[in-house]
This record gives sequence, structure tokens and C-alpha cells, in this order.
Amino acid sequence: MEFKQTVGRHRSSQYFLPWRPVERKKVQVILEAGRLASRAVNTAFSKAIVAYRDSLTAAEREKLKTPFSATLIDTAPVYIFWFYDMDARRVAVEERKWPTVASGALVDIGALGPPHGWSHRYVQHVVLPEVLMPGLDAGPQRGGNADAALAMAQGLLAAIDEGLAVNLAPFDEAGAKEVLRTPDTWEPVTAMFVGYPADSWEAAGQEPRPPFESMFFDQRASQPFERDQRVTQRLKDSGLIQRPAPVPWRAKEVRAVSRMLNLAEDEE
Ligand SMILES: Cc1cc2nc3c(=O)[nH]c(=O)nc-3n(C[C@H](O)[C@H](O)[C@H](O)COP(=O)(O)O)c2cc1C
Repeated sequence: MEFKQTVGRHRSSQYFLPWRPVERKKVQVILEAGRLASRAVNTAFSKAIVAYRDSLTAAEREKLKTPFSATLIDTAPVYIFWFYDMDARRVAVEERKWPTVASGALVDIGALGPPHGWSHRYVQHVVLPEVLMPGLDAGPQRGGNADAALAMAQGLLAAIDEGLAVNLAPFDEAGAKEVLRTPDTWEPVTAMFVGYPADSWEAAGQEPRPPFESMFFDQRASQPFERDQRVTQRLKDSGLIQRPAPVPWRAKEVRAVSRMLNLAEDEE
């Protein structure tokens, strides 16, 4: 699939075929894409655990639910729980493991070098003491992490590219500790629910977004980034920008899918 189409086909799917398993190779593709996401100091801040709806007991599934993710946990065949490893920087500094910045790997592979002032000496005497070590004595700090979210985002697009339906929703942290045996140093990012769509891939249509100019700015926060309609048209032609929600048949589709999946239906 073309990249622009993959971005355009993204939907936060609400309806999965519970009986259709997801090929393990496709789950691996999601993780491989996440593994290659950009990450600060080349350290693996992102961790993920794959679980299968049918390999967990009903009681275990209950423990993982939040009000937002209950139906997704009941219907999606695969869950990928994404975490931020709050201890990854300390481990990288202490162990100086390849290929972290702390190990000098970026100098060895020629990613960073003299043109940027980098050398092994620079890593030992500047990067470690001034960038990597400060704050470590405070211990693991909660608060989220861009790297972990980036890895999840790339995995999300890879799932779409593999023809899968996907959605994100929070999970119960204490339940995850019990069921998935996660270390205390892992902070939840979000759960990713993966499966084959029970509704059409287009689902409701592309969900609305706030106006482009209210989100993006040109050189000053006071100066909106003006959209060029020729570019927007090209993106419509390439499939990045698609038919907005709701598509006219959506209510009927939701009723039919809810009946098929035995889910609660609209009273009307
Ligand atoms: C961190 C995060 C948490 C989310 N939590 C939920 C959720 O609990 N339930 C849900 O249905 N969608 C959830 N979503 C999906 C958003 O609701 C969705 O991205 C937004 O409505 C835009 O729709 P789209 O993704 O289909 O374009 C979440 C997305 C993110 C990034």
C-alpha cells in the first residue's frame, strides 16, 4: 500500500471479527515497524507485550478492562500493550550496551562524528555526564515518553498496511501487572487492539479533525500555516484525505454488525 493511502485508511476500528485470528507474521510486522521508530539516544524506551483474547481467561480479560476498552477487549483477537520503560536510560548508562549512545555506537557506525563534534571522548566526557546521567538518581519517572508513542504510531500504520483493523484504548495498569507480570518500571502507553474488521474498512469514514490552520503555524504561533488547496487536492487523489464521516449507510452498517457480533444495539 502507498504510504499516503496507509495514513488515509487509518480508522479507530470499533468492530473486529472475534473468530478470525490474526497471522503471527502480521503481528511481527507491527512490532518490527515499532522497533525502527526514531528514539532518543538510541535507547529502547518502548516495550510491548502481545496477548491473545482466546489465550486469556475471562477473569484475566476483566482485569485488563477500563470503561473505554471493555468492548474492544471482548472482541479484538489480538492486544498489543505498549509501555514506556522508565528504567531504560539508567540501564543504558550503566550497561553501556550496544547500540545505545552510551556505548559509543553512533560514533562507531558513522551516524555522528567529527562534523558534529562527536567522538568516543565526547560521549564519555560530555554526553554521558551532561545529557544521559542527570536526573537518574531520582529513579524511574512517570509522565509518558515520546519514543514509546512513536513506536506505537509506526506499529499502528504497519497494521493498516497489513490490511488489519486497529484501535487504541487505555488498559488497567494494576490488572496488567497481575496478568502480564509487567515490571514496576514500565509505564503504560496504550493498548492496541488488532484484528480483521467486522465492518467495512472505511467504517464511518474519515473522522473529522479541527481546522488545519488551528493546529499548524508558520514561524509564529500567531501565524496559521495556510493550506494550499492544490496540495489538498493531490492528497485527496492519493487517498490520504478521504470521504469524511459519517458515510450515509453507517447507521445501518452498525446495526447489522452489532447484530452479527451480538452487541448492544441502538434503541431506536
Ligand atoms: C492515546 C489514545 C487513546 C485512545 N483511546 C481510545 C479509547 O479509549 N476508545 C476509542 O474508541 N478510541 C480511542 N482512541 C482513538 C481516538 O478516539 C481516535 O483516534 C479519534 O477519535 C480520531 O479518530 P480516527 O483515529 O478514526 O481518525 C485513542 C487514541 C489515542 C491516541
